[in-house]
Amino acid sequence: MFAYMDMKFIDTHTHLFLPEFDSDRNQVISNAKSVGVEKILLPNVDSSTISNLFKLADKYPDYCFPMIGLHPTSVKPNFRNELNQIEKWLKERKFCAIGEIGIDLYWDKAYKEQQEEAFRYQIDLAKKYDLPIIIHARESFDEIFDIIDDVIDERLYGVFHAFTGDEKQAEKIVEWGFKIGIGGIVTFKNSGLGNVVKNIDIHHIVLETDSPYLAPVPKRGKRNESANIIYIAQKIAEVKDMSLQQVAQITTHNAKQLFKL
Ligand code: NI
Repeated sequence: MFAYMDMKFIDTHTHLFLPEFDSDRNQVISNAKSVGVEKILLPNVDSSTISNLFKLADKYPDYCFPMIGLHPTSVKPNFRNELNQIEKWLKERKFCAIGEIGIDLYWDKAYKEQQEEAFRYQIDLAKKYDLPIIIHARESFDEIFDIIDDVIDERLYGVFHAFTGDEKQAEKIVEWGFKIGIGGIVTFKNSGLGNVVKNIDIHHIVLETDSPYLAPVPKRGKRNESANIIYIAQKIAEVKDMSLQQVAQITTHNAKQLFKL
């Protein structure tokens, strides 16, 4: 671990408050610290995850930064009630972003209209509270792009999380002033994402693990954790022909600027 001591990373997307980490959450944090992860950002899922999210953020106030939002796969007939709770919390405590929000047509298309309404509503909240948004897009790039195109203005900014799109989509995202969240998928052999990342300016990239999901190679298939961010950074350094130090320094700077950390 000595080699990493001069490097700092920010994991801009981890669900460390989920039950997958109940048995060793403190250990996972010390693993992250040992490779130079200096902050981790926590996207919410829905009202059922809020109390564990806050518990973690309160225990590590200078290390774990909560977001608030309703995940698209949690949009159900009760979604307006969920959105009311989010708005209530926005008035009561500090968050680094609205997330994660978006549209997911992979798991379930039944609530597509409701997902779109919830997404637009939370975009309005982000503008009102001057917070970045974390966008989850799964089999929904066209729908998401149409909405962003419709509502984009100088008050709207954020991250396309777990980006898996093509170069044209990356260009559009950069044009809007959004950051591109790169995680474990970039290390997957057949993802093709490395070739896209190669042509994205590093100043538009933030790192994320999305743990416990999407563990990078060589940990693929296992429970993911923030310390694995090192494999993602290494892969980006490789495809962009940069040093690991440069990737660490610039992506950390990008994250600090975006999230006002
Ligand atoms: Ni996530």
